[in-house]
Amino acid sequence: MSEIRQSVSSGVANQPAAAPKLQPFALKDAPALIEAVFPAQKVSFEAQRERKAGAGQTLTALGSYWKGRKPLILVRAIVLGSLLPQTDDAEKDLEIFEKLMAFDEGGLARREPKISPPEIARRIELADPWSYFTASFKGDAEDAAEIEGSQFPLEIDDYPGLAIRWRRDIDEAVKLDLLAKALATYPTYEDRAGLCKRPEEMDQTALYAPVWPAVNAHLGHLRIETHSHQALVEQLGILRFGHRPRVGDTFCGGGSIPFEAARLGCDVYASDLNRAAGGRGGGGPGNHRIGHRARQPGQPGQGVSLLPGDALPGDRLDGADGAELGDFQDEQRCRKAGSGPFKQALRHPNPNRRLRRRDDCRRAGNRPRR
Ligand SMILES: C[S@@+](CC[C@H](N)C(=O)[O-])C[C@H]1O[C@@H](n2cnc3c(N)ncnc32)[C@H](O)[C@@H]1O
Repeated sequence: MSEIRQSVSSGVANQPAAAPKLQPFALKDAPALIEAVFPAQKVSFEAQRERKAGAGQTLTALGSYWKGRKPLILVRAIVLGSLLPQTDDAEKDLEIFEKLMAFDEGGLARREPKISPPEIARRIELADPWSYFTASFKGDAEDAAEIEGSQFPLEIDDYPGLAIRWRRDIDEAVKLDLLAKALATYPTYEDRAGLCKRPEEMDQTALYAPVWPAVNAHLGHLRIETHSHQALVEQLGILRFGHRPRVGDTFCGGGSIPFEAARLGCDVYASDLNRAAGGRGGGGPGNHRIGHRARQPGQPGQGVSLLPGDALPGDRLDGADGAELGDFQDEQRCRKAGSGPFKQALRHPNPNRRLRRRDDCRRAGNRPRR
């Protein structure tokens, strides 16, 4: 029987740090938002995009390879949906949830959609387009005059030689508004979101800054006041459980559930039977960090955002055998170079790691080689 390896990621005292006005347990038995509304199609699309990002996925890029890992965006949706309460306005609940996931129109516009100015010119109505765009035109004077007095939408194919660009002095908020308008002309969420970056690729503060007034207004009756997901999660935890939420995943596998829960500000506990599990290979049994903890100093109780280049000293995904993240990066390079999965790892000088990689080879259906 294997020993359960456990990890407490947050590393901070489990004290309700914020929002003293909150009434602990006010939401003790309140139904969760996810029981009433959940944008399954959007979550599904975003999850698929994340999985298709291959090495661009956060945990993969951190050097942790795991075949069947849950998409982080799915974990995020479930944690938030389980903590948020239902109100008597289900439509508004869904609207707020989508804002918190950056699925809403404004969120999509902030996710740097790839829509060129000429495409915008084709798609939206604008009475004074040249307040926001510049045009340079190589053609006859008659056409040039026509363009100068034109409005959007503009059949730009009628004017070969016309180049349209954003004005350099355009206000960022106005630009986002125009991008949102252009995005709204695409028929499906898949079409719109497919043009955008994934939410976790964006700077989180800038991406979500505009949503907090709406979130605070919607949940104001609970005295929630937040400017980050982490504070929101902590406050919802106090309202539901009297403390910051704790997430346990005893079969954590690739570790995406505890990783994302910690990033959202939960305290997390994780374990797995498999030595290769836990976000990256661990060592033998015993305490095993799974690669995230609450950042200190900083706001107490905030889950760490452990993105490449964003690690704190000690945030490195250490295994108990002392293996380095670099080992896994080598493994990634090895795989990318098409030299066969884990080939290099099979020659690893540390027998524990060699064994672990051989296990992984079998799981992946590859014949381990000596
Ligand atoms: C489907 S995977 C989990 C995937 C994970 N949720 C993720 O997103 O990556 C199931 C995990 O359960 C672990 N497991 C199976 N039996 C176990 C046991 N008795 N104790 C601990 N872990 C166990 C396996 O090693 C495997 O990693």
